[in-house]
Amino acid sequence: MGIWTDIQRHQLRQGLIPRHVAIIMDGNGTWARRRGLPRTAGHARGAEALRRAATEAATLGIQYLSVYAFSTENWKRPPEEVAYLMKLFGQSLREKVPELVEQQIAIRFLGNLKKFSPTLQKLMRRAEQKTSRPAPRLTVNVLINYGGRAEIIRAIQKSKNKKVSAATFAQYLYTAGLPDPDLLIRTSGQLRLSNFLLWQSAYTEFWFTQKCWPDFNGRLFRQAVRDFQKRQRRQGGLA
Ligand code: IPE
Ligand code: IPE
Ligand code: MG
Repeated sequence: MGIWTDIQRHQLRQGLIPRHVAIIMDGNGTWARRRGLPRTAGHARGAEALRRAATEAATLGIQYLSVYAFSTENWKRPPEEVAYLMKLFGQSLREKVPELVEQQIAIRFLGNLKKFSPTLQKLMRRAEQKTSRPAPRLTVNVLINYGGRAEIIRAIQKSKNKKVSAATFAQYLYTAGLPDPDLLIRTSGQLRLSNFLLWQSAYTEFWFTQKCWPDFNGRLFRQAVRDFQKRQRRQGGLA
């Protein structure tokens, strides 16, 4: 990494670093189509972009990175694409765990995991166990077969017959114990939530870029954090 990158990071660390950043990793298919490649090639490059983002987040001192990897609606895609994504998840889980351990990054999977093959479920649980530690530099939450509406309905069922407040209700969500995201990034120029962290993003700052997910890098991540530092968060009060 160049000296300018170090200076940029140093400057960012003088300001408020978001504790929790959420990312809608969108535009893999678009990235591939523009290059005349199959959509699957975009997904493969997207996995590399996630690796870069996690390293940057850890370096900046972000504590939680929550990434949208597969939505409850993504099953609607052609079976070949879904099958490729499952293969890619399995491959990443088999290969990347030692690197996560080395970087002191913990990984967790949030969503309805029961829909995945027993092998994938086992790989996910094993990755969680192997990377879990008392004080990780960063925790990466991978939201997979996740949907905000399904999550809220599940929480309602879990909290049935209990008296709940906003704070106690949050304990029934997949994100129990995590702070709400401070910053949410979405790539590929789409300006919507697509059922991501509906409850949790009530007061989150949003940041969008035209760049597709496979082109996301540390420089863009730092730009998002720099823009975040200029925002004035009011949460209903006065500045
Ligand atoms: C995001 O990229 C990855 C997943 C949803 C798994 P897309 O596959 O949605 O790419 P676009 O939006 O079609 O370009
Ligand atoms: C959201 O992107 C899901 C992920 C990034 C995993 P989509 O591509 O599925 O969302 P829409 O269909 O454009 O709203
Ligand atoms: Mg998309």
